[in-house]
Amino acid sequence: MREYQPLLIAGAIIGVFAAGFIFLWCVVRRQKDAAGADRNMPDGEIMRRLIRYARPYWKQFVLVLCLVLASIAYSLASPYLVGRIEELIKADFPLKRLWTLVTVYALLLAVSMVCTYFQSIILQKVGQKILSDLRQDLFTHIESLSHAQLNAIPVGKLVTRVTNDTNAISMMFTNILVNMVRNVFILFGVLGAMLLVNYALTLMVLCFLPVLVLFTVIFRQLTRRAYRRVKDCTTDINTYLSENLSGIKITQVFNREQAKLDDFLVRSAALKKARQRQMYVFAVFRPMVYMLYITSVMCLFYVGSRGYIHDTALLGQTITSGTVVTFYLYISKFFDPIQTLAEQFNMLQSAFASAEKIFAVFDMAPALTDEPDAIELDHIEGDIEFRDVWFAYEPGEWVLKGVSFHVPARQTVALVGATGSGKSTILSLLCRNYDIQKGQILLDGIDIRHIRIASLRRQFGQMLQDVFLFSGTIRSNIVLREDRFTDEEIWQACRYVNADRFIGKLDGGLDEQVLERGNNFSAGQRQLISFARTVLHRPAVMILDEATANIDTETELLIQTSLERMKNIGTMLIVAHRLSTIQHADNIILLSHGRILEQGTHQELLRKKGRYYRLYMLQYEARQAEETAG
Ligand SMILES: Nc1ncnc2c1ncn2[C@@H]1O[C@H](COP(=O)(O)OP(=O)(O)OP(=O)(O)O)[C@@H](O)[C@H]1O
Ligand SMILES: [Mg+2]
Repeated sequence: MREYQPLLIAGAIIGVFAAGFIFLWCVVRRQKDAAGADRNMPDGEIMRRLIRYARPYWKQFVLVLCLVLASIAYSLASPYLVGRIEELIKADFPLKRLWTLVTVYALLLAVSMVCTYFQSIILQKVGQKILSDLRQDLFTHIESLSHAQLNAIPVGKLVTRVTNDTNAISMMFTNILVNMVRNVFILFGVLGAMLLVNYALTLMVLCFLPVLVLFTVIFRQLTRRAYRRVKDCTTDINTYLSENLSGIKITQVFNREQAKLDDFLVRSAALKKARQRQMYVFAVFRPMVYMLYITSVMCLFYVGSRGYIHDTALLGQTITSGTVVTFYLYISKFFDPIQTLAEQFNMLQSAFASAEKIFAVFDMAPALTDEPDAIELDHIEGDIEFRDVWFAYEPGEWVLKGVSFHVPARQTVALVGATGSGKSTILSLLCRNYDIQKGQILLDGIDIRHIRIASLRRQFGQMLQDVFLFSGTIRSNIVLREDRFTDEEIWQACRYVNADRFIGKLDGGLDEQVLERGNNFSAGQRQLISFARTVLHRPAVMILDEATANIDTETELLIQTSLERMKNIGTMLIVAHRLSTIQHADNIILLSHGRILEQGTHQELLRKKGRYYRLYMLQYEARQAEETAG
């Protein structure tokens, strides 16, 4: 046995130093990676920001840590106890001492199981709370983003952030971090226990350390790439799905199912491949660590049994059969945490990558915010003025070029003009969905940038060109989750816009279910519901963008009458392509390519015999021809 001693000492020293060196090298490389193109946010910063979410639950985490430590006692003591039991069995079988050891073993096992149970219950609860806090913050933040910011991010990406990525972070708190702590404790605990039981055999185990650490480093490198690929593919497929499921009817109408399916299959195959690669990496790593474990066990049996059979000491330490059994169990407990630590470290990296993506969304400061001294509007008259307004969605591509007009309170103004001339843009700017680049927009003489956004938007009732209904009921869509309205008020609004006739015929009435996007209603019905929503809130300024585009002539005439009634109650801005519907407006503004071409009343513009006159005549003749044909 003597011949092994220098080998063991040298092997163990090299092992420990090599492991330390590789570990340090990894830490340095990691920091370089994190600072480079791979990640933009240092781990420290991510951790600091994440801890903010865990801080309210610190008591639970401390409790969990205590439970973890208590449950570790079993892992550390059990191999020793089994070794002792083996020795007693082999000796003269002293029943009393055997019973004592078995009872201690059983008690430790029971304590460990109870601790593990409570640990996972507490962690799951805390994890769900952190998850819901994070989701809520993220959703609130997304809601605060401006239209321009929201236009720039695909919806599928945001869905992935709020679902998959928050989930990865919750996993980190509930599973990864605690288990990493647990494994580090077990690792060092087992090492300490092994040294206490037999330091010579411990040196033998340490000889395997550099190989194990090397495997771990290679594994980490490979899984990192695999994880990142899986994440990118998941975001890609979610983005594709959310867009294409929204437009699936168009796909069907245009017979593009196969083409879309092919596109989907490409993304699906990429995700499958990425996941498979991740599996392969695990499939190679685990057996390799296992092989190393088996090799070390074989060495233990060889060295241990030789020492035991020949009754020789190794580095001055005798080896009993119990020592061999104890070490056999310790070795597995030593290799296991190293393997799991490597895997968990990767999961931690993956959670950090998710966290970084989430924080990138948080770091998008809302482009439109209230000025510190912005004022709160209670009641307004509804006087609107655009003063030389210049606006571009994309820098340099002017959509509005010096637009100026004035709408006195309680007057009706109609915006007309060709498609893309900037009508909807004007309405959108009034509600401050975007900020203008030059000029001023005034509401009751106050620049809208000096008004709190929420209180500004409260003054407007908007009926947008692309009507959006939420899933729920007709009632919830009209009141939009404000429960201050009585049924009578809702019906009154419906009567005002003539939506009462079709709603009255529905089985559920106001409680009739509305499917996603209002798919179970006709375009006209959707417009009427949205119209009722606009009227109900009795806004000081009403904005109607193509409000009657999808409504039959009879209903349109009824709505015209309602609009007439609403005139002089509040200010109204109406966009309409059918000029017959806006004849009664106090002022008609004709837009062309972002400039005001003509403005005046219907009669004034007709007398002018300009662009408006020609447009009106065209529509008039078309209507005449239609009536003749009919
Ligand atoms: N979110 C956006 N990002 C970039 N450009 C936009 C955006 N919305 C509109 N535009 C551009 O601004 C111009 C004016 O659009 P706007 O929606 O105001 O037209 P419109 O007069 O309402 O037309 P329509 O009668 O078809 O509703 C168009 O050329 C359009 O391409
Ligand atoms: Mg428009």
